[in-house]
Amino acid sequence: MSDSTVYRASTTAPVNIAVIKYWGKRDTALNLPTNSSLSVTLSQKSLKTHTTASCSSSYSGPDSLLLNGEPEDIQSSKRTQACLQLLRRFRKDVEAKDSSLPKLTDMPLKLVSINNFPTAAGLASSAAGFAALVRAIANLYELPHSPTQLSLIARQGSGSACRSLMGGYVAWRAGSSKDGQDSIAEEIAPVSHWPEMRALILVVSADKKGVASTAGMQTTVETSTLFKARAEEIVPKRMALMEEAIQAKDFPKFAETTMKDSNSFHACCLDSWPPIHYLNDVSRAAMNAVETINRRAGELVAAYTFDAGPNAVIYYEEKNEKLVAGVFRYVLQAVTGWDGEYGSNIPLNDRGGLEAKTVMTLKSGVSRIICTGVGGGPEQTDEHLVDERGQAVKV
Ligand code: ADP
Ligand code: DP6
Repeated sequence: MSDSTVYRASTTAPVNIAVIKYWGKRDTALNLPTNSSLSVTLSQKSLKTHTTASCSSSYSGPDSLLLNGEPEDIQSSKRTQACLQLLRRFRKDVEAKDSSLPKLTDMPLKLVSINNFPTAAGLASSAAGFAALVRAIANLYELPHSPTQLSLIARQGSGSACRSLMGGYVAWRAGSSKDGQDSIAEEIAPVSHWPEMRALILVVSADKKGVASTAGMQTTVETSTLFKARAEEIVPKRMALMEEAIQAKDFPKFAETTMKDSNSFHACCLDSWPPIHYLNDVSRAAMNAVETINRRAGELVAAYTFDAGPNAVIYYEEKNEKLVAGVFRYVLQAVTGWDGEYGSNIPLNDRGGLEAKTVMTLKSGVSRIICTGVGGGPEQTDEHLVDERGQAVKV
């Protein structure tokens, strides 16, 4: 009798926000970066992807992905195909060593995934999404590979995804080999090393972004005159500084390096041709607010960083919650997102000396707040999004 069992494994995976940015590929097919990068994994209490990987010989048709309730075309996605192929190859090795194991590699995959936050809106859904996809299938296939080994696969889905396979503070080493075998992510410090790190996300726009990062970074590589110095000289020095700052839990050093690197990345975007504008007036008001808060504190207590979009991510330490997040809470009281485990503990401060124009711009431009902090890596869960008969569960 043929085996019609529905095999399932589920995981959640976090978002990560880089403090040293990945921007530029030296190999677009293998997704190999021009420079190393470093990120903070954000808590899944706030933002997460939940993915179930299932397979069964009773499934008909090709591999499929249901993302947020909608079928996603993964057949024509080279990146997803690359991930699935590599995972199947690893499973084939496992099956070859033990003939009693079910031949999962011959069965179609049915993947179901949900992001609990806007997809393709500059909130790193691709990072959490590909990390969850790779982790869930690795669990389904019972692969013995470490998160660092799996990072080679997730990287091919989306570069930044390789950093979401681990918690805490994560470096993606650019590597130098042609085949990308040394382009891997590794946890440089666990959450427990510096658990006081907090992040406040000012959602300026939850719409789809203008220039997608994949295309934007290639324009920069090809046209920016500043880019070469950034990739070859500036980032390698900053990676070392950032690792020192994290090991020593030196927030002012962390903050200075974070802000300088975000500015350097956006300067390269503006220096590209045609120029790429990710920041807008609301982003600049957020930068101005952080600078004012730091000036008032007499030291760096807050650090802004921006990805390929206008949303601001502001890092600070828990002990400075009132000084930093308390000011934003005062100014943005009417905006949703101040509830939940992180937000509800933030004490109200005053206006923090922010200029009237800054306050006005933030009030009119910030649509939502996300309060979060450093968090752990993917977590296996028994909550499956595919039932025992292989049907997607309605959520
Ligand atoms: P973002 O800024 O949110 O990372 P991108 O445009 O870079 O946006 O990436 C969005 C793409 O990432 C989606 O169109 C989809 O292909 C992929 N993606 C997002 N979430 C998931 C998920 N949960 N599972 C698999 N792929 C995902
Ligand atoms: C600005 O990882 O989305 O967020 O590899 O082409 O999928 P692809 O790009 P992606 O780029 C992220 C760029 C960034 C910086 C970062 O996360 O390091």
